[in-house]
Amino acid sequence: MSDPRIIVALDYPDAASALKLAARLDPKLSRLKIGNELYTAAGPALVEKLRQSGFAIFLDLKYHDIPNTVTAACDAAAELGVWMVNVHALGGRAMMAAAREALARRKAAPKLVAVTLLTSIGAADMEEIGLAGVPQEAVVRLARLAQACGLDGVVCSAQEAGTLRRQCGKPFCLVTPGIRPAGAARDDQQRVATPRQAIANGADYLVIGRPITRAADPLAAVRKISEEIAQ
Ligand code: C5P
Repeated sequence: MSDPRIIVALDYPDAASALKLAARLDPKLSRLKIGNELYTAAGPALVEKLRQSGFAIFLDLKYHDIPNTVTAACDAAAELGVWMVNVHALGGRAMMAAAREALARRKAAPKLVAVTLLTSIGAADMEEIGLAGVPQEAVVRLARLAQACGLDGVVCSAQEAGTLRRQCGKPFCLVTPGIRPAGAARDDQQRVATPRQAIANGADYLVIGRPITRAADPLAAVRKISEEIAQ
């Protein structure tokens, strides 16, 4: 069975645009990520359509609420048949443990990963919201908490992947956005890594948006990145 490492971020405002791009991709070579914008606009019907086309879906809704509510949301995501779902580690131990338990009771459950600290949060934001330490420390602390709660992994930057791989060991899944093939436009991303660097740092899955969705030939872009990873 193919186990594509590339997750294409479908950052689109409507189902039609997302389906158009998906029709130009191959589920054997990439998975798809649906985030808040697209899910709010297009909902479960789009998830179902993309699944029927053979794609594994990462439902990136970053749940962050009381344990009972997050548990129910994770169950609803599992019903949709998605491959991966995520929560905010800042929701705390009880929330993550409850989500883990709920999914563990199911026959077929999505992978459950946590967002540690949003990469948009800097040292000044941390101080303002009352979080101790610098962002890098919080990322490790929250990743270890997610691991202690039995989560399958975390979303992190490729720069953090090396440290987290050392701290959390091997089976822990690292999902890294901010990927730019050599020579590609950075867009609004600050700290980017090439696909090869991210994999070398220990990343398992690479979330890639614009370098693929805005390519003249998206499938060729996926192929090129897959080859770079495979080397
Ligand atoms: O187009 P680009 O490759 O920059 O898209 C990256 C995707 O990863 C977007 O969906 C973005 O929201 C997501 N993401 C990110 N940085 C994070 C977490 C998620 O870029 N720290």
